[in-house]
Amino acid sequence: MAENNREQWKTQLGFILAAMGSAIGLGNIWRFPYTVYANGGFAFLVPYLVALFVVGIPLLIVEFGLGHHMKASAPLAFKRVDKRFGWVGWWAVTFVMFGIVIYYAVVISWCVDYFFLSFTKGWGNDPVNYFNNDFLKLVPPPAGGQQFTFGPVVWKIFFALILVWGANWIITVKGIQKGIEKAVKIFMPLLLGVITLLVIWSVTFKGAGQGLSYYLNPFEADWSKLSDPDLWIGSMGQIFFTLSLGFGIMIAYASYLPQNVNVVKAAAITALGNSFFSIFAAIAVFSTIGFMAYSNNVSVRELKDTTVLQLKPESSEQAILRTKLDLSRYEMLRRGSSARSIKKVFRENNLSFARYQGAFNKIPLKLSGPGLIFKTYPLTLNKIPGGALFAILFFAALVIAGLSSSISIIEAFNSALSDQFNLSRTYSTSILCGLGFLGGIPFVTGSGLYLLDVVDHFLLQYGLVMVGILESIIVGWYFTSRKLRMHIDEAADMQISSRGEFIMRIILTVLLVMTWLVLAIGPNVNTIGSQVAMLAIIAALVLMWLSEHWFDYDIKLLIPALLMFILNGALVKEINTAYSGYNVSFVMVGVMWIFVTLLVAFIFNFLSRKKS
Ligand code: TRP
Repeated sequence: MAENNREQWKTQLGFILAAMGSAIGLGNIWRFPYTVYANGGFAFLVPYLVALFVVGIPLLIVEFGLGHHMKASAPLAFKRVDKRFGWVGWWAVTFVMFGIVIYYAVVISWCVDYFFLSFTKGWGNDPVNYFNNDFLKLVPPPAGGQQFTFGPVVWKIFFALILVWGANWIITVKGIQKGIEKAVKIFMPLLLGVITLLVIWSVTFKGAGQGLSYYLNPFEADWSKLSDPDLWIGSMGQIFFTLSLGFGIMIAYASYLPQNVNVVKAAAITALGNSFFSIFAAIAVFSTIGFMAYSNNVSVRELKDTTVLQLKPESSEQAILRTKLDLSRYEMLRRGSSARSIKKVFRENNLSFARYQGAFNKIPLKLSGPGLIFKTYPLTLNKIPGGALFAILFFAALVIAGLSSSISIIEAFNSALSDQFNLSRTYSTSILCGLGFLGGIPFVTGSGLYLLDVVDHFLLQYGLVMVGILESIIVGWYFTSRKLRMHIDEAADMQISSRGEFIMRIILTVLLVMTWLVLAIGPNVNTIGSQVAMLAIIAALVLMWLSEHWFDYDIKLLIPALLMFILNGALVKEINTAYSGYNVSFVMVGVMWIFVTLLVAFIFNFLSRKKS
């Protein structure tokens, strides 16, 4: 391709907003809070920040630096490092474009539907039942010896999916300046505004303080979690996903930068802005969780094991209870509350709970996975004055955040196609959006949720991590981190890439202690793979401590070793337990997805072998 007519960002702010738009997505508003909740509250922030500084920011610098230096999308950029590596770039963009974004767009579609439902609180009194049965029309899970069926297509989601892909198409078809840059310049400030409003509003909820203290008070955190390797693995996964690392996206976005830029600064702003956003937005979620705990008369910590009882609207006991209880108590049964507080009401009124038990629906509260925003959130907002408006804003924020992420992979693939085959933007965008939409159809059926669950698990746990390992090795050893560092310094016209030694040494010390703890606890480092990785991690930490160029050893040694340790742990766990208790054949769908996208990547690589 003629490089002098490569598209360019109009402004550097436009580039940073686009990179942040890609980074800030469903992962920040939804996945981050429940990961924090599940991992001991405030304590999670420690491994999260370590992952950010040790892996996140350095790899983002690598991706920005590589894209900027090579002026190319991921496949071509890797090919220019070494002819043998084009497939790595193709694999990254392929499994994100034909994997992650396919179901990601489906989740955005759920948010679109829930946005419209919010106006009338259309999920009704029993949002859990609504989400599973009326909305997703779930078929029984593919477990045991059951025959797998897709179930019917859910038209409501199908139509929302058309809207989502339509929006993706309209934005990306117009190109960098007129499409993406323009969109993110509207989306990002809007998103920040909406989230700020929600945060301010949510802290006024009753019980908000309790939720926030679980989130932000170090004295309430469960520090013992820090010795659990799953916590460290989880935080690494979160950083990868949230910064769009290993997606090939940041490489493509940086390839549209002008000659002289400071990519270290850009990476730091993007990464810190993204984490700030997560931490800030989570205030709204934790305040709501606090209210939930308060209104169910349980502690925040107990919430995830809480079952809410809700009076069945059609039960015959309903009328009897209405005459025996005062209005506010009766309302509480009707809207649902924890078993504990319901039983208390019965006791106070000298009624036998056992007699009425059958008249209640039992709703286990879900604070992880889709349950948090599609079940527990509506359940809670039903009890908050103005809850409908809160829901409208919340789901709008999710849609905006999701779209600014999904367009980024379409652009990354577009850019790969135009670098390697002379395709017009209109043509390639239309094909990609069409295929993305078609690929989404199995996910809008009654088994969509299960399918989403396995595919997400395998692509995130294996795909992203493997690309991360390959990327750091290719750049670290073949291109060499030294050369990358020199390029970065030259483009910024400053000596910046070897700074930060002091902060780094503090972090490294923490890490050495942590590594020692993991070793001391023992049983988790019991395979050859994990032992080798652990040795490499220690060697890397020591080298980084001693050298003034911590960056080089980070890329060459620490990142690949850490990721291999994680990969090893994930594999061992995989072999020992069937994922989520699903059928083996169903789990194989996820495994196949990895191999098929790899095969497709090789085909693309073969077809484009002549271009360089
Ligand atoms: N970083 C996004 C998030 O946190 C995820 C994401 C970025 C993404 N780009 C993407 C997902 C492209 C799918 C496709 O949610």
